[in-house]
Amino acid sequence: MYWLVMSSIGKKIVMSISGIFLVLFLLFHMSMNLVLIFSTVTYDKICGILGANWYAVIATVILAIGVVVHVVCGVLLTLQNMKARGADEYKVSCKTKVEWAAKNMLILGLVIFFGLIIHLQNFWYKMQFADLFQLGSLDDKSGSQLVINLFSNPIYSFIYILWLVALWFHLTHGIWSSLQTVGLNNKIWFCRLKLISNIIATVIMIGFAVVPIYFTFYAFIK
Ligand code: HEM
Repeated sequence: MYWLVMSSIGKKIVMSISGIFLVLFLLFHMSMNLVLIFSTVTYDKICGILGANWYAVIATVILAIGVVVHVVCGVLLTLQNMKARGADEYKVSCKTKVEWAAKNMLILGLVIFFGLIIHLQNFWYKMQFADLFQLGSLDDKSGSQLVINLFSNPIYSFIYILWLVALWFHLTHGIWSSLQTVGLNNKIWFCRLKLISNIIATVIMIGFAVVPIYFTFYAFIK
């Protein structure tokens, strides 16, 4: 346990496993959001199931632990790497160029983290949190109405899309790197894994972006 936290490779393993767990959450969250485009009634039913129920609260706590572990290990690992490299720039071999995303994982991660705090204030605080602590005034609107109201403002939708672009860059490198760390790192799969990571990151980004884009135009058409 001590080794996992203290060693560089230990932190990388923890980051990979927590990262894969967060990607699975994103795929679930994205699929749930897409329901809203087809039926507000079904979406609100799902929100009810994921509201102030003991199993939903346990899932939220596990998710929060996953986010904290991932962020703390990411910051520690980057600081450790910077110290080890000293004044040297990222080493670039003659054949492979280090991608922009790979060099900026910490900055991208922090943009996603601070965006997440705003996002939780926009929705989770007004839904599950308000439900749990019976803050009636916050609970007046249904989940679907909260989402539709927020994204009827094109400025908000634009900010969310910028946030999703940062998420895309973070995921293209993050998924690939996690899969390598957990052992899928032979030569044949090197480029295939890069392609698979790009596909998963793109599906997640487009799946999330559809909702703000749809409700921005929905407000204009109405
Ligand atoms: C732009 C599309 C998105 C929409 C419309 C959306 C909507 C929502 C809503 C309505 C909730 C509250 C659900 C509830 O409490 O029952 C929520 C919670 C949450 N969202 Fe999003 N979300 C989006 C993108 C994202 C992204 C990109 C991330 C991660 C980077 C994210 C992370 C979370 C987390 C961690 C929670 C709390 C989950 C929990 O309570 O267990 N969301 N989102």
